[in-house]
Amino acid sequence: MKQCIENPNEVDWASYWRERLEGKKNKDWDKAAPGFFKRTRKEDYNSALFDMLILDEDDTVLDVGCGEGSITVPLSKKVKKVIGLDSSTKMIEYLEKRAKDEGAVNIETILKPIEEIKYEEIGDVDVVVCSRSLNAIMPIEEVLEELDKIANKYVFITIFGPENKKIERDFDRELNKQTEDFPDYDYFFNILFNMGIYANIQRFDLNNYREYDSIEEAMDNGKFRLDLYSDEEKELLKDYLERILTYDNETKKYYNVKDKADWIMVWWKK
Ligand SMILES: C[S@@+](CC[C@H](N)C(=O)[O-])C[C@H]1O[C@@H](n2cnc3c(N)ncnc32)[C@H](O)[C@@H]1O
Repeated sequence: MKQCIENPNEVDWASYWRERLEGKKNKDWDKAAPGFFKRTRKEDYNSALFDMLILDEDDTVLDVGCGEGSITVPLSKKVKKVIGLDSSTKMIEYLEKRAKDEGAVNIETILKPIEEIKYEEIGDVDVVVCSRSLNAIMPIEEVLEELDKIANKYVFITIFGPENKKIERDFDRELNKQTEDFPDYDYFFNILFNMGIYANIQRFDLNNYREYDSIEEAMDNGKFRLDLYSDEEKELLKDYLERILTYDNETKKYYNVKDKADWIMVWWKK
């Protein structure tokens, strides 16, 4: 039956967001840290992100869900100071090592869940960046409200695009299994709209597809939720990847051109 909505602006998008996240098993970011550290070095995501950020050399930036620093450290070279916040000890360890190796001395770190960010604690910064870290946050309105208060100039957020899990979704379809998925970016835009924040939306045009040294590395690509597959399903995943990946004799790598990231930039000016 077609549901009739009198005023679409009164739809409570935040409750749909929470519903989509209800009961999801959070990723173990400590465990994911080494693989993430290795992979981010090869991506064209970073240059797409930096092309969009509006930064000044005197700015202070809050990097929310900073991870292992693949964004934080390059950011620190463009601005006066970066505060990196993350709840994963391992990620922060990688970040601090990376900062030390690159001689970045203007980075401060805060070990804390995003859900606990408060304007009263952080205070004012010029720019807030949340790169790939807000998809699974439940109290999304509360967090966005704090981030909006903290930023004096701009807020830049990237969240999953609809095609981020293309090959993963195809495999789950073969298993008749629901892909571990997140609310779409239209939810996010509408939650902000309901809050009176009228954001800009840009879908990144990323070209780099992933390359792997082995089928095992492809299985552990960070997007297949291996923790949610049985041993039998893992064997089927191996067969699937052997079918869909091509081996390049020159580069000695496995690849599939559809195995690309899809990210949406959501940003607004204060
Ligand atoms: C995909 S990584 C992104 C890292 C980095 N921002 C980037 O784009 O390369 C997601 C990061 O967000 C952090 N994260 C996820 N949920 C979090 C939460 N609720 N509180 C704090 N950090 C969180 C993870 O620990 C991880 O480091």
